[in-house]
Amino acid sequence: MKRIDRETVQRIFDSANIVDVVSDFVSLKRRGVNYIGLCPFHADRSPSFYVSPAKNICKCFSCGKGGSPVNFIMEHEQMTYNEALRYLAKKYSIEIEEREMTKEEQERESARESMFAANEFALKHFERTLTDTPDGRDIGLAYFRERGITDAAIRKFHLGYSLERGNDLLQEATKAGFSPDILAATGLCIRRDDGTVFDRFKGRVIYPVHTISGKVVAFGGRTLRSDKKIAKYVNSPESAIYSKSRELYGLYQAKKSIVEKKKCILVEGYMDVISMSQLGIENVVASSGTSLTEGQIRLIHRFTDTVTVIYDSDAAGIKASLRGINMLLADGLKIKVVLLPDGDDPDSFAQSHSLSEVEDYLKEHETDFIRFKTDILLKDAAGDPIRRSQAITDIVGSIAVIPDEITRSIYTQECARSLDIDEKVLLREIAKQIAERKEHAADDYRREKARASISDIVSPSEEPASLQSIGTVTDASTNAANASTTVQRHVSETESILEPYERELIRYIIRYGLHALPFDDENGQPTQVRVIDYISDELSYENIEFSHAVYSKIIDECREIINSSFEADLDRAEAENLNQRAIDWNEGQQRIAQSAQNLQQIKSQEETLKAEVDNKYWERNARFLSSYLIRHLSCSSDPDVRSVTTELGTSRHKLSKYHSKFSHVETEQERLFDLLPRAIYGLKNARLSARHKELQARLSELSKAPNYDPEATTNVMLEMRALEQQRREYASLLGDRVVLPK
Ligand code: CTP
Ligand code: MN
Repeated sequence: MKRIDRETVQRIFDSANIVDVVSDFVSLKRRGVNYIGLCPFHADRSPSFYVSPAKNICKCFSCGKGGSPVNFIMEHEQMTYNEALRYLAKKYSIEIEEREMTKEEQERESARESMFAANEFALKHFERTLTDTPDGRDIGLAYFRERGITDAAIRKFHLGYSLERGNDLLQEATKAGFSPDILAATGLCIRRDDGTVFDRFKGRVIYPVHTISGKVVAFGGRTLRSDKKIAKYVNSPESAIYSKSRELYGLYQAKKSIVEKKKCILVEGYMDVISMSQLGIENVVASSGTSLTEGQIRLIHRFTDTVTVIYDSDAAGIKASLRGINMLLADGLKIKVVLLPDGDDPDSFAQSHSLSEVEDYLKEHETDFIRFKTDILLKDAAGDPIRRSQAITDIVGSIAVIPDEITRSIYTQECARSLDIDEKVLLREIAKQIAERKEHAADDYRREKARASISDIVSPSEEPASLQSIGTVTDASTNAANASTTVQRHVSETESILEPYERELIRYIIRYGLHALPFDDENGQPTQVRVIDYISDELSYENIEFSHAVYSKIIDECREIINSSFEADLDRAEAENLNQRAIDWNEGQQRIAQSAQNLQQIKSQEETLKAEVDNKYWERNARFLSSYLIRHLSCSSDPDVRSVTTELGTSRHKLSKYHSKFSHVETEQERLFDLLPRAIYGLKNARLSARHKELQARLSELSKAPNYDPEATTNVMLEMRALEQQRREYASLLGDRVVLPK
């Protein structure tokens, strides 16, 4: 296997000029220090695609796509990282120094390959067990039959069965040459503390999870018992080849149909996908019972821009998931919703109806998401003015995230009608929310402008359209002047209230962002979430963005780092680390062989050695993860990012240490489970306080006004009361560990 030499990669990065690279596809015009053009990633009517030669990156201010030259090529040409590098190398006549991988790299690569091979073996083995063993047929196959699953569907989704007794997979896989280490690494087997290994999926029917290219990366195993104490599903843990947030169940089988039908249907569970698919509706994928991640959304978006979400009629589930949909909207996807009849889920509905019945039902009941949300929230708020106004803010929030202006304005008109509100009021509220979101983008832009040479000053009309709306909020020279002074004062006061909380979260991200936290998902299954994802998910559920431009910038840069170089570097580091572990182990073993007197001694010394070696391995691993973002952020082209990184990333903030009664000193890293949720709720709470302050100021203004305005006063007071209520809820959440990570 060949790999592009590291120095070559660096040379490509150094040579590739963003203006040059983008110009091959987009016609660019010079605007001050930057270049602008029509965005190639969405239907752009006025130029919103910015290319910054200084930063050597491009970005669309409307759809958000862009990045380094490599990212641009990956996105535009749908290439992998390596393909994009080769493309650029060719463009700049850089000879690619391909070399054979080093021994460590080969080991690392072959470990991954062994994991894929072990999964492939397991998939075949589970399939054979289902059809070729008495237990498989009597228990597993009988179960699928009873649930109406056809043989064709069993083959298409490679369903299987894992025997209850013994460690069937472990035995068979070992016979076939797979080491227990590899089996444990994939999660097919579990290693006990005493070192013994056993099968994870005993006595369960098996649903394999494929990547879009068809590799098996994980399994779900469903118990056939109705015992409530047993987890219904056991799923593969995250591993070197499986990241839960980047796969979608059924996508491999569905992708062709998604492209043909120009639509992706989103359901909850394995069974929902399979039953729909065997009926003939094949463009179905499952989120596997959790809310969608950005990575999954991007996967869908590669195949279509229309998603239909099917809901059971269970109201609690619907409301919980409404929030998550904003992410889909923000990605520019068109969302439809279908509500199933009472008591049905997609699986039972598909099992009890014909193809044409289901198709007709979907066609007839498909509702536009915004309309659907409006209906639900309004019905909910009937007769309650506070909840009605919350509902409106909520709906406006969904409209405001839609990147396309035309779509936005259609929704605005429609909602004005259905909410019975003046369209202008809605427009103002939407503009306000967009402005708030773009505030930091604008800050960035202004700063860059300020830094540019004086002759390059860009007139306000040349700012990207998305930024112009900001002017009405913060630019005192516009005709919103009288309002703007107060707004500005509150903004800065708000910012200063929020600053320490935002800063704390950013510090966690910079220092621990890449570390994985073990969580239980909502079904009690162990899973891993990176600190940066945990924090951004928690905040995005409530549409919270950092109010300080530099902090949002840091988050964006972290994402960029993770998406571009991190995986490859992690692979390399792990290869080195594994190699070092092998060296440590061999050296230790030799020492033991020379010194030990008898077998018993060898055994016990080897046990100690293993613990030592593993410990060192994890320490090296942790060191790599802790330093990675800092190393990259501190080379950022943005001086503010660099200085915040240097400040928060260095040990001036000494690790806060915590002495337990056994005087074991826990590091901050070990306490993240406690610290992160606190920091997040801290920020949420601070936002409430800030808003409360604003309202207080407003209230005193109202009381001083020459004409008493009873309605406005009541509204302010009602909102204050709602805020106080929410603060009490947060306070109780902070005391309540259930919502907090393990
Ligand atoms: N899930 C899980 N772990 C659980 C429960 C659920 O991983 N303990 C995931 C699975 O991906 C499952 C999805 O959430 O497919 C939906 O859960 P549920 O509706 O309970 O399961 P179904 O797929 O409908 O399974 P069945 O119909 O066989 O009960
Ligand atoms: Mn079900």
